[in-house]
Amino acid sequence: MKHIFRKGTDLAAPTLLLLHGTGGDENDLVPLAQLIHPGASVLSVRGNVLENGMPRFFRRLAEGVFDEEDLVYRTEELHEFLDQAAVQYQLDRENIVAVGYSNGANIAGSLLFHYSNPLRGAILYHPMVPRRGIPLPDMSGLSVFIGAGTNDPICSPLESEELKQLLASAGADVTLHWESNGHQLTRMEVETSAQWFAKQFSE
Ligand code: MLT
Repeated sequence: MKHIFRKGTDLAAPTLLLLHGTGGDENDLVPLAQLIHPGASVLSVRGNVLENGMPRFFRRLAEGVFDEEDLVYRTEELHEFLDQAAVQYQLDRENIVAVGYSNGANIAGSLLFHYSNPLRGAILYHPMVPRRGIPLPDMSGLSVFIGAGTNDPICSPLESEELKQLLASAGADVTLHWESNGHQLTRMEVETSAQWFAKQFSE
């Protein structure tokens, strides 16, 4: 997959796996990594699907309606890419934390739903429930931050709560943070997730 890798100065810190929103690319979230943990290594990936020229991580049939077959296929593709990148860049495969926005948060959620221990943690900004009606793997030891919007027109508050419940019922430790700026990713949300990250992984 097309990507950027930047080796950090704090090699004990988790590698930040950056996953952009629809229409973005691997450059978009790089500045966020600086805010979350400046010394962390960064692996920022571009989604392989194009929707009217806009990169995404998987196909959708309509706004908010995912192409499940493609979601499963693309989740496997990303999972395999992480295994390869860990070897190529000599990363600790067990110490990767995803940072995803919108469509990128959804593929990160899908990794968590479909694989055992694919990530050490995840910061999900404005995610949806990636799939329903499947058994979830044991998520004990996994830490997840969800940034949600009380007035997000794409990811409703009910869906944000549902995602929290699903992850928590599988054993994950979930922090749900609310903003009221629609589907936008805000500075406040990023700063709150940076504090959460420091508490989880650096103290
Ligand atoms: C998605 O398709 O993943 C969600 O609707 C979020 C978006 O990318 O608009």
